[in-house]
Amino acid sequence: MSENISIELNISKGYKRRINQFGDYRDVTNMSVDDWNERWNLEQINVFHMPCVNPMLVKHSEKLLAGKERQRIFIPLCGKSLDLKWLLDKGHTVIGNECSDLGCRQFFQEQGIPYTAEPLPIEDGLKYKATDGSRIELFRCDFFQLNKSMLGEFDCIWDRGSFVAIPVKDRQRYGQLICQVMKPTCRYLLDTFRVDNSVYGGPPFDCPESDVVKSFGHRCKFQLIDTRDAYGKVQREQWGVKSFTEEVYLMQLR
Ligand SMILES: C[S@@+](CC[C@H](N)C(=O)[O-])C[C@H]1O[C@@H](n2cnc3c(N)ncnc32)[C@H](O)[C@@H]1O
Repeated sequence: MSENISIELNISKGYKRRINQFGDYRDVTNMSVDDWNERWNLEQINVFHMPCVNPMLVKHSEKLLAGKERQRIFIPLCGKSLDLKWLLDKGHTVIGNECSDLGCRQFFQEQGIPYTAEPLPIEDGLKYKATDGSRIELFRCDFFQLNKSMLGEFDCIWDRGSFVAIPVKDRQRYGQLICQVMKPTCRYLLDTFRVDNSVYGGPPFDCPESDVVKSFGHRCKFQLIDTRDAYGKVQREQWGVKSFTEEVYLMQLR
């Protein structure tokens, strides 16, 4: 058994070490944007960055888009996800938010989209935009510095590894901003996980339905539209958990 696998090691004074997504034992419960930037700089992003378009997005795109063309879509905490390009290629306008400058630049470079950047009206933020007419912009800043006047309103929101990556204590604050930028007809797909964070440090952080209610229930009605057993070798051998389930909600304003 490797050192990484011996995760339930109880060290002195009762402190229980929990492995995190990045394969070390640092406490990631309240990761700041600086902590995330550090992970990007250390090239530790392949633990969440997928080499393909997210299968749940593909599977439920009809529910997200409702068959409509030229939708204005928000992807919070987007990283350099291929989902951005997939939706762009379908003719939609895509607005992402990502705190990592490296992540934003890598997205444009890897997708071969020329880009420029301009300051955002906040202390530390840039808006990356395509210069070839592609309808994509990435707001490079802390999500919690965004507001409706900067973002406008959206027809659709795709949330994967976003709500479940922010500190759990910030979930209601996150929900408030998301609800503010939803058009009355907005369709919001929220991809979440059920995982035992008393064993595994995260992210992702466990998302029981009660947290969806607490964070969005004041403004949104929602429906659990998919549940997938996502338990695999990594969860069994590295994280040491006994189950790992992906759950997708469709959210709409009441
Ligand atoms: C788990 S990753 C998911 C990335 C992407 N959604 C995907 O599916 O590949 C979370 C991303 O959010 C970014 N992030 C974390 N906290 C943030 C914040 N407060 N504001 C903006 N971006 C943030 C991280 O840099 C990271 O790229």
